Amino acid sequence: MKILIVNGPNLNMLGRREPGIYGSSSFDDYLPKLQAKYPQTEISYYQSNVEGELINKMQEVGFSYDGIVLNAGAYTHTSIALHDCIRSLQCPVIEVHISNVHQREEFRHHSFISSACKGVICGFGLDSYRLAIEALCPLT
Ligand code: DQA
Repeated sequence: MKILIVNGPNLNMLGRREPGIYGSSSFDDYLPKLQAKYPQTEISYYQSNVEGELINKMQEVGFSYDGIVLNAGAYTHTSIALHDCIRSLQCPVIEVHISNVHQREEFRHHSFISSACKGVICGFGLDSYRLAIEALCPLT
C-alpha cells in the first residue's frame, strides 16, 4: 500500500499554531510514529500553503497510489478547485481535520470537498490521520 498524506495551508505551523485547538506536536514529530505503526504501508507526506501546489501533487500520485489522506486546512471551506481535483483522481481521498470543525465557527461547517471524498474524519486531534490510514487499510 502506498498512501500520501497531504496537508494544506498553515498546517506547517502545527505545534506552534493555536496549541489549544491543534495540540503541541509538530507534524514532523508525529509522522515517524505513524509510519512506525504501519511498517507494511509506505506513508509519504506533502505540505503546501499554495492551493495549486496541492492540486499538482494530488494529480501526480492520484493514479498510482492506493489513497490520499487530505487535510486541506481552510481550503476545505473555499475550494471548488480541490473538489474537482479529488473527483478526477482514481484513488480514494479521505478528508481529515484535527479539530471538530462542527464545534467551531459556522464558516467551518461547510466543506467543498466532503462530497468528493470517500469519507471524512474530524475531531480526534492528530489521531484523525491514523484513523484515516486505518480506513484505507481494510482487513485482508
Ligand atoms: C483544520 C480545520 C480548518 O477549519 C482550518 O482552517 C485548518 C485546520 C483542522 O485540521 O482542524 O487549517 O483543517
